[in-house]
Amino acid sequence: MSTFQAPKGTYDLIPPNSATYLAVREAISVPLRNSSHGYIETPGFENVELFARGVGESTDIVTKEMYAFETKGGDKLALRPEGTASVLRAALEANLHKGGNLPVKLWYSGSYYRYERPQKGRYRHFSQVGAEAIGAEDPALDAELIILAHQAYRSLGLRDFRILLNSLGDKECRPVYRAALQDFLRGLQLDEDTRRRIEINPLRVLDDKREAVQEQLIGAPMLRDYLCEACKTYHEQVRELLTAAGVAFEDDPKLVRGLDYYTRTTFEFVHDGLGSQSAVGGGGRYDGLSEMIGGPALPSVGWALGVDRTVLALEAEGITLDIPAATAVYAVPLGEEARRVLFGKVTELRRAGVATDFAYGGKGLKNAMKSANRSGARLALVAGERDLAEGVVQLKDLVSGEQTAIALDAVVDEVRRALG
Ligand code: HAM
Repeated sequence: MSTFQAPKGTYDLIPPNSATYLAVREAISVPLRNSSHGYIETPGFENVELFARGVGESTDIVTKEMYAFETKGGDKLALRPEGTASVLRAALEANLHKGGNLPVKLWYSGSYYRYERPQKGRYRHFSQVGAEAIGAEDPALDAELIILAHQAYRSLGLRDFRILLNSLGDKECRPVYRAALQDFLRGLQLDEDTRRRIEINPLRVLDDKREAVQEQLIGAPMLRDYLCEACKTYHEQVRELLTAAGVAFEDDPKLVRGLDYYTRTTFEFVHDGLGSQSAVGGGGRYDGLSEMIGGPALPSVGWALGVDRTVLALEAEGITLDIPAATAVYAVPLGEEARRVLFGKVTELRRAGVATDFAYGGKGLKNAMKSANRSGARLALVAGERDLAEGVVQLKDLVSGEQTAIALDAVVDEVRRALG
């Protein structure tokens, strides 16, 4: 037993399962790189004020879930709970929006931290791959991002996911709705906490999962009925573009996201095999965020897909990704001279791009062959003194068991041919 364990709410990615995580990150990034998104990486922590202002003072993320701390130098920082505020901060700082080429399209992949109550699919450290398109108001941009996420999930073979779509209105129509909703909510039987929420973040009350609350929400004013003409038209265009692209979605007038910066288009990808933590990804438009963190007006839209939950979704659908074995060739030397010669061949093969491993630690033949089989390699290269004297090594096909002697100086070519 080891003395230390991973902190509560976290887990380690270890082989062979870690290969699936890498493959998921890769699969999500492919459509993004194929649609002119540039890669961005920002620090794992930021000034705490960035998230307080960006994500919102009244959100659970900021009030309860942030890993905030003060450094020895007196800086107030927080581990990043999400990526959007950081990416926008970095884009503004680097003046990317002044390059005359809007939108600035960026993608990222990394670790995020939320002090949440851990359960399956909800962790304190998790991974997202995300995309942000900064500085353009165009329904095609919203549609593009949703289509790309859909493409990413499909490329992984996922089928049991749904896209929930809503519009949260803009600074013209949302305040009118907010006031109407507050009026309605103030008349309900609610606990202290929820009553307080009515005053600071009434839309979040709609998201309350408790049945006793949901029952009372029947008949609540819906944002849909308060959208201004501009928001309505915009939303209709997003819907039409998705439909034309063959991407099915469900209108969810109650979809409210857990971050305050959203305006207009909001969406969530939910997977039906995941139980309560069913959101595998989410995002939307955040036209006011730039100004909230001190920048110019830059209407933007983005999403983040959760890598951990996407892996769980694969498991739920019984999908195993086709991940090539980490090792194609395994070299087994018998004796000191063979060690020297075969080690040279291993280096040669690797330089030629063939994934190769070596029986280290002076293993006997039987043990070494066991390791060769366990490595998943297709081929083994075995050589003893007699082989070397004849200028050959034995090439063994680990699937068929067939063995042939090949010339030492033709190893790379012969291996390549055998691998096809
Ligand atoms: P979010 O909905 O908070 O949005 O997170 C996006 C995804 O990250 C979730 O759908 C989920 O898959 C994953 N996730 C979140 N929290 C956890 C957790 N505790 N454990 C495991 N997975 C988790 C955002 O973060 C926004 N920044 C998305 C965005 C980008 N909006 C605009 N641009």
